[in-house]
Amino acid sequence: MTTPVSLQKQSVPPTPMKKRPHPSFVPQSPEAKTMALWTAKKPKVESSPYETLFQTISGEKTLSLYGVKAKLERIGQGYFMHTFAMKAETEILPDIANDTLLVKFYHGAKGGFGENRLSTYTSSSLRNYETALSLNLPVAQIHNADTALQDRYFLVERIPHEIEMPQDIEKVHQFFKAAFANKVYFDLHPSNLRKREDGTVTLIDFVEEKINFKTSSGSECACRITALLTAWAERGASRAEGEQIVKRLTAGLEEHGFDPQWAEDALQTAHFSQETIQPKT
Ligand SMILES: Nc1ncnc2c1ncn2[C@@H]1O[C@H](COP(=O)(O)OP(=O)(O)O)[C@@H](O)[C@H]1O
Ligand SMILES: [Mg+2]
Repeated sequence: MTTPVSLQKQSVPPTPMKKRPHPSFVPQSPEAKTMALWTAKKPKVESSPYETLFQTISGEKTLSLYGVKAKLERIGQGYFMHTFAMKAETEILPDIANDTLLVKFYHGAKGGFGENRLSTYTSSSLRNYETALSLNLPVAQIHNADTALQDRYFLVERIPHEIEMPQDIEKVHQFFKAAFANKVYFDLHPSNLRKREDGTVTLIDFVEEKINFKTSSGSECACRITALLTAWAERGASRAEGEQIVKRLTAGLEEHGFDPQWAEDALQTAHFSQETIQPKT
């Protein structure tokens, strides 16, 4: 069989840095995207097994990103992701300052994640990200959303500030409302929401597994929501403060299937010791 002309290997001179195409969204179904990108032969990071890539970034912390040699500095580590700021002599993405970018990698050798699960988790995160975008929720932009599967990392907008309580609570409430009204699970843990320079509260972490959003008591989702609310309740110094936070975050959600017992369970968990252990006199 003859190779179609478009697929034949051609020697193309390297594109000048500034003219590199900017990664942009290609409207495609997530499945088509997964297939097209994951089966692509050559990842942009020149390293074969994901574990090797991960060891490299843990050690030397220098990586070639879109043809630019970047020095990485770890700024965050969650359950799934390692997050790095980057320094390089030229811009990694055209017209985007490097200090407004972060690169995020899945844990490679730890926790059982590796090459084989990377594509599943990446495409799942991308789906969650695109759902949030479609609901007009502020999200940290994934600059390489259309090539992340092939790149094996996320190149994202850096969201500089932590959220503050209680002034940001209403903005966080909007995320809870959007999740419940649309029956979409977002990981609204306090550590996954940060603030842009202009004060916009922004989601930075996208759910890496498929979760069925159900709102009946006892479902898998109920315990996830209780766990999320527990983290918010812990933000209050006392049970009363925790209760205020949880009340405001869940206001008006009953009509979308929220069970107030989930909030009660969260408060019990977060402020258990205060209720049950009386100080010795
Ligand atoms: N877009 C971002 N802007 C600023 N910090 C970020 C961003 N993404 C991740 N981080 C930092 O990295 C940490 C881990 O990233 P996250 O996406 O939450 O991974 P995990 O799924 O492991 O929780 C975050 O808690 C935060 O400190
Ligand atoms: Mg997180």
